[in-house]
Amino acid sequence: MFGPKSHLAARNDHLFLEGRDCFFLARQLGTPLYVTSESRLRENIRAYHRAFPEADKYFAVKANGNLTVLRIAAQEGMGADVFSSGEIAIARLAGMPRERILYNGNSKSERDHRMALEAGVRMSVDSREELEHLAKTAQAAGKDAEILFRVNPDVSPGTHPKIATGLRTSKFGIPAEQVSETYSRAMDLAGIKPVGLHCHIGSQILDISPFVEATRKMMDIAKDVVNAGGAIKTIDLGGGLGIQYHPDNPAPTPADLAEGILPVFQERCRELGIKPKLILEPGRSIVADTTIMLTSVNVVKRAHVNFVAVDAGFNVLARPMLYDSYHHVIVANKAGKDAKETYTVVGPICETGDILAKERRLPLLERGDVLAVLDAGAYGFSMASQYNGQPRPAEVLVFAGEAEVTRRSEDTSALLAGQNIPARLLR
Ligand code: LLP
Repeated sequence: MFGPKSHLAARNDHLFLEGRDCFFLARQLGTPLYVTSESRLRENIRAYHRAFPEADKYFAVKANGNLTVLRIAAQEGMGADVFSSGEIAIARLAGMPRERILYNGNSKSERDHRMALEAGVRMSVDSREELEHLAKTAQAAGKDAEILFRVNPDVSPGTHPKIATGLRTSKFGIPAEQVSETYSRAMDLAGIKPVGLHCHIGSQILDISPFVEATRKMMDIAKDVVNAGGAIKTIDLGGGLGIQYHPDNPAPTPADLAEGILPVFQERCRELGIKPKLILEPGRSIVADTTIMLTSVNVVKRAHVNFVAVDAGFNVLARPMLYDSYHHVIVANKAGKDAKETYTVVGPICETGDILAKERRLPLLERGDVLAVLDAGAYGFSMASQYNGQPRPAEVLVFAGEAEVTRRSEDTSALLAGQNIPARLLR
């Protein structure tokens, strides 16, 4: 029933995640609720280690910023790809070593640069302009900034346009033809130590060939840099490997990715006589399928279609609304029952687009049923908001049947946090 998702099972019509009954967990802790399988998380990381024994793997913190998830990733030997100084702080707190943190980003302020220099993490520089800004800040701070260059390799990843990042037209990276010259400039700049190249072509990519194309293009650029006298100690090929959201749409594994890119990478390195460290930055393929989001049915409305109104909307899981993405839905207390009816699952937010799942065949539903929205671990909680005065939900980690709350649910006080009414308006 769950294909490769070994941490999920159905018993007596109830859905279990790593041995824990999801319906009773929802009853006990309330919904909406994010529930993560620790074993699945560890397995996913180990699959990357097996496929790429010599590469460093940096977990993309934007996919899931839960401190416990990051702690487990650190224990399993991952570093972190971070996109803000806030994410640097979280990654360090989780125990990621500074040498294995890369600070990416196309819009860093002087303060961001200073914080990264103080934290002692490497940065990926997104433009010639950023290079000059960073050099000034590093010189003023009396520090050397170790940097990679974010390359725009102009590769089409065949994914949703909002999450394709390496197209010529996308905002990220230095156009391929400017990289070598920018690298040479960096070698002359005080306070700057260029160590390598970086790219990330997009997310939820289900075909290996764009990764192979990006690897080739990166190696072409590495060749130009080496010919111009630059040292390439690191090549970071980013994240982006897709996962199987839909039962009929399988995804490649880390081993498939390795089979595609490693021969190209290794051969071109041999040709150039260089031995750079390969870095990968997976987010989704590490964490998406570890986690389900549980949500309770409030109303089943028979209108022009059958609407199931649940207590989580795009405030809790934004992906369906933002990218029309498919997340598989299982009824946590009717998991073995036959599908009898077609439902559209909607959230509590006052927008027509607040649809979690369209036209799904499900068992007959009633108020109090609990739906499990699968593969919610990547870009789920991390993109949740308080829109419509909705406090954000709790996150729970399950290990061998035991559940521990890793982030408690917010209450109304969270909606007021930091706010005050100017005194003159209270008179
Ligand atoms: N490295 C960089 C520089 C990135 O920008 C990203 C994702 C990753 C690594 C990780 O990519 P992954 O392995 O997770 O595909 N919110 C969207 C996805 C946005 C991805 C942003 N960058 C979604 O929910 O589909």
